[in-house]
Amino acid sequence: MSRRTPQHIAIIMDGNGRWAEQRNQPRLFGHRQGAETLKKVCLSSLDLGVRYLTVYAFSTENWKRPRDEVNGLMGLLKLYVTKELKTFNKHGIRLRFIGNSEALSEDIKKIIHDAEKNTKNNDAFTLIVAFNYGARDEMLRAHKALYRDGIEAPDEAIFSSYLDTKDFPDPDLMIRTSGEKRISNFFAVAVIIR
Ligand code: FPP
Repeated sequence: MSRRTPQHIAIIMDGNGRWAEQRNQPRLFGHRQGAETLKKVCLSSLDLGVRYLTVYAFSTENWKRPRDEVNGLMGLLKLYVTKELKTFNKHGIRLRFIGNSEALSEDIKKIIHDAEKNTKNNDAFTLIVAFNYGARDEMLRAHKALYRDGIEAPDEAIFSSYLDTKDFPDPDLMIRTSGEKRISNFFAVAVIIR
């Protein structure tokens, strides 16, 4: 790894809908294309020596989208994880998920659980999928868990250990594929260090 290679890249995968609409295609066509591109980005990042890639695949705000689009994104996750499991294992890619999985359907919970379990011994690269993720929700869940554990005034290290991102280094580079410059409730760590 060169000194300039980021250890952890975070990507807000947006612009898919607009990209599809410009081609007179349904928005889901753009998301599907995004998923294809993600595979290439994953393998290239691995080749370049990046160790962690976090992708914002479904935010806590995305529930407000039309039902068809929400269902389509759920279906895409199922398809992607099932279809690419072999690729992940072949390249030593570990899959981890961040976000509020409790609120997801049972079949998605199972997909997430199985994908994490089936790739847990892979150590070349970690693909972190932020799914039903929002930084505010992450902080709120951490806050509730701290309260549950009787910790009233955590220091930064204790607070961080209650975040979904506790096992990963902070991202060094954040990319928003549409080119916009907003954080959109992505990454509690980025919000805290700002
Ligand atoms: C937001 O931008 C993007 C999403 C809500 C979904 C991104 C998801 C994928 C690319 C699916 C692949 C990921 C996995 C892990 C299966 P938008 O495209 O709606 O933005 P726009 O409306 O601004 O164009």
